[in-house]
Amino acid sequence: MSSLPRDAARKRVTLTKLAEMRALGEPIVMVTAYDHPSAKVAEAAGVDIVLVGDSAANNVLGYADTVPVTVEELLMLTAAVRRGLRAPMLCGDLPFGSYEASDAQAIATAHRFVKEAGCDCVKLEGGGASAERARAIVRAGVPVMGHVGLTPQTATALGGYRAQGRTAERALDVLEDALALQAAGCFAIVFEAIPAGVTDVVMEHMEIPVIGIGAGPSTDGQVLVLHDLLHIHEDAPQPKFVRRFADVHGEMLRGVEAYAAAVRAREFPGEEHSYGIAPEEIERLKAQLRTKATQPA
Ligand code: KIV
Repeated sequence: MSSLPRDAARKRVTLTKLAEMRALGEPIVMVTAYDHPSAKVAEAAGVDIVLVGDSAANNVLGYADTVPVTVEELLMLTAAVRRGLRAPMLCGDLPFGSYEASDAQAIATAHRFVKEAGCDCVKLEGGGASAERARAIVRAGVPVMGHVGLTPQTATALGGYRAQGRTAERALDVLEDALALQAAGCFAIVFEAIPAGVTDVVMEHMEIPVIGIGAGPSTDGQVLVLHDLLHIHEDAPQPKFVRRFADVHGEMLRGVEAYAAAVRAREFPGEEHSYGIAPEEIERLKAQLRTKATQPA
C-alpha cells in the first residue's frame, strides 16, 4: 500500500523539517513546476519542495536557454504554482540579471518573489559574489537555496552544459562555492552535474541539506525537472542524469490525434456532449422565423 502523504492534514514543509529529514537520513524530494495543475500533482504526490525554476524559460516559454526569462514572467508562473500548493515548500528562482548587480538589487528581487508570488524561499546560482548576495537576502529575511556545479545561467562561462568538478582543482572550486554559500546562511544547496565521487567528498563538509541533480546518490535529496521526468518535450535535450518516469508527450500526442480523427470522422461531438432543448421550443423558434420571413423588412 502507498504511504504517500495525500491526506489533507499533511503539514507544511518548513526549514526545520528539512533539517530534521537530513539528520534522520530521510530523502528530500524536490521537483520543478511551472503551472497550477503541475503544482497540484506535486502536492498530491507528497513532494517536499517545489521549485519554479528558471528552466521554465526553455520548458514552457520557448526560449533557447534560461538567460532571457524575466522576473515578471517567473512571478506570473510562480503565483500560479502557489495557488496549487499547500504543504510543499515553494521556492522561487531568481533569474539571470535580477540579483548579481548589488545586494540591494538581490534583496528587492527576493522580496518580490515573497510578496507577489508567495514564495517561502528563493534560489540563486553560483558561489563567489553570489554567496555575498545570498548573505544579504538571508539578512533581509528571506531563506536562500544555493546552486553550485553546473549553473545554467552562466553555462557559457563554464564551457557549456557539462559536468563540473572533473579535476581535483575544479572539484575544489565546487567545494569552495558550496562552503561559501553554507557560511552565507543558505538553508540548502542544489548540486548539479557533479561526479558522484566529488559529491561524496564535498558532502563530508556540508551541514545543510544538499539536493542533487546529476550529483550521485549521496546527497540529502534529489531534484528533477518535471518536463524531463515526465517526458513532456519530445525534442528537449536529455541529460545523462534524467530518468523518464512517464511518457506524457506520447500520451498528449495520442490524445490530440484521437480528437482530430474523431472531429474529421464527425464522430465527435456525440449526443452526450451536446446541450438539449425541449422540442416545443424548437417548434416555437421555427414558427417565429416563419413569421419574420413573411413580414416586410
Ligand atoms: O531551473 C531549474 O529547473 C533548476 C533545477 C535544475 C534545480 O535550477
